[in-house]
Amino acid sequence: MPTLKTSVLGIEFENPFLLASAPPTASIESIDKAFEMGWGGAVLKTITPDDLEMTEVSPRYATIKAKGKVICLQNIELLSHKTIQYWVDGIKYLKKKHPTKVIIASIMSPVDRMAWHELVLRLNETPVDAYELNFSCPHGMPEKGIGMAIGTTTEISSLITSWVKDVATKPVFVKLTPNVTDITRIAKAVEQANADGFAAINTVQGFMGINLETLEPVLNVDGQSTYGGLSGEAVKPIGFRCVAQLRQNSNLPILGMGGITNWQDAAQYIALGSDAVQICTEVMINGYEIINGLKSGLLNYMESKGFNNISELKNIAIPKITSHEKLNKKHYVYPLIDKEKCVSCGKCVKICSESEYHALNFEKGCLNLNQEICVGCSLCSHVCPKEAIKMCC
Ligand SMILES: Cc1cc2nc3c(=O)[nH]c(=O)nc-3n(C[C@H](O)[C@H](O)[C@H](O)COP(=O)(O)O)c2cc1C
Repeated sequence: MPTLKTSVLGIEFENPFLLASAPPTASIESIDKAFEMGWGGAVLKTITPDDLEMTEVSPRYATIKAKGKVICLQNIELLSHKTIQYWVDGIKYLKKKHPTKVIIASIMSPVDRMAWHELVLRLNETPVDAYELNFSCPHGMPEKGIGMAIGTTTEISSLITSWVKDVATKPVFVKLTPNVTDITRIAKAVEQANADGFAAINTVQGFMGINLETLEPVLNVDGQSTYGGLSGEAVKPIGFRCVAQLRQNSNLPILGMGGITNWQDAAQYIALGSDAVQICTEVMINGYEIINGLKSGLLNYMESKGFNNISELKNIAIPKITSHEKLNKKHYVYPLIDKEKCVSCGKCVKICSESEYHALNFEKGCLNLNQEICVGCSLCSHVCPKEAIKMCC
């Protein structure tokens, strides 16, 4: 039987599923409950110096839904409003009650060496397992010169990482923002400053839109709004891309996240280079209980594929990702039409002709492919409402 137990930088995880730094980890009471329910660990809602002023707004969320399910969340929430002492006491309490659970302290401070040191020195007194430097919150904090304002510059990211490394007694992960042209530039800078690992991704900066009736923003704070952080299923491809790029450029451990809704997403994050994964939005939508399906699904999958542990699955997909230049230009797939399923709606014919190729047409009421013209792009298979088109070699 395979095991979900894994070890990252000497930290023992009973399973690779962590709650990401967010509302589900904003209080000791709720983390306690999550641990009882089987989560492997928690990254605390970002802790800041007690004198950092932060005032929240209402409302803080907007969503995009598909078939009734939230697939994208925009938030404009800030960080933890609890004191450092609350977290110092809370970490001690949680570790005593749940010694096998991993606790990572997410931290953020102004660009001031003493302030970062004070935060870390206070938390060093606790049995916390690691630190996660939040260089990536995209709203509110950048206006104060922190959060994503740090994580979008190599100089400040590496400077603060080295300040923290000077005093931290536990491993230091840097949580990176996807809101940069090249995430590996920031990653390289913090690795050179001795970061021990990466966490990626934080939310993707976005704007949910305008209500055309009122002509006010969808996320409406008394008639106005601001750019916020997008999360949930819709950002998963961005998270996958960032994690894979990090793995292609570094051997440091990665805590992968962004849009994980089920064990299949988690398994892909691991195959793309993650050592463990974090989840926020899906927990905010469906609660801590999703941990049961995550654990059993991943375990069954590992057993069916003959993976004994997380390390055997980790990185396995990385050699399959290359440059466009190196892709096999002689490979060709063509659409195979399932005549039983096809209802002759003509959507594929229209789309193929309007998107350049004109390879599909109706001949005597039957859908017909001109393979001489077809370039095998696969668009027809994606737009068919009846899934009647498969691409074959
Ligand atoms: C409401 C909300 C609050 C968040 N607060 C924090 C935070 O305090 N610190 C942090 O590092 N990330 C924060 N995040 C980002 C998440 O930890 C995570 O990186 C992001 O949501 C992507 O994962 P997901 O798609 O599973 O939600 C927050 C996300 C949401 C939705």
